[in-house]
Amino acid sequence: MYKVTPTVLGDKVDFKMPIKEFYDAIGEDGMRALMYDFYDIIYESDIANFFPQDHDEFEKVKVKNTKFFIEICGGPKVYDGNTTGLELNEFMVRLHDDFSIYEKSRLEWLGCMREALEKLDIAQELKDDFWDYVEKFSKLTVNTTVEGNKYFANL
Ligand code: HEM
Repeated sequence: MYKVTPTVLGDKVDFKMPIKEFYDAIGEDGMRALMYDFYDIIYESDIANFFPQDHDEFEKVKVKNTKFFIEICGGPKVYDGNTTGLELNEFMVRLHDDFSIYEKSRLEWLGCMREALEKLDIAQELKDDFWDYVEKFSKLTVNTTVEGNKYFANL
């Protein structure tokens, strides 16, 4: 339950898409509620600095990213991002390329997700399955280590 395994940079990330039962249990409105709650938690978190500080701009990210999650969980194809020609792994890496994401940032992201999921009143095994997906898939966003930090090297 809410297990976290460490990211090993360079290792292939094996993940499994979430089972359709999770989406079926909460529906599109439930997915939206979950993800909006999650991004509201992100906005108050230690990784808020990665996201737009302007409230309206942040709302846009929230709406756009939520559509991605609706689609990936088996809902309608509503995501308006461009995934053409790329495998999902590669797409995910590229999406986060512009940001220096540490393992620590991923753990904070997952902590926010855990908080939102815990409030959700559905069978624990469905939440565990979604967790398993985000826990693994999020490894694709980690692209920076403390050792690779340009200032750390001068200490
Ligand atoms: C399973 C995990 C994750 C998924 C599925 C995910 C998915 C996405 C998606 C779909 C976008 C939108 C790209 C677009 O269409 O423009 C995005 C943007 C972003 N993600 Fe993630 N992400 C994940 C984890 C993380 C983590 C761990 C961080 C850590 C900081 C992060 C930070 C960001 C940032 C900063 C943006 C850009 C927001 C903006 O447009 O300004 N994500 N992510």
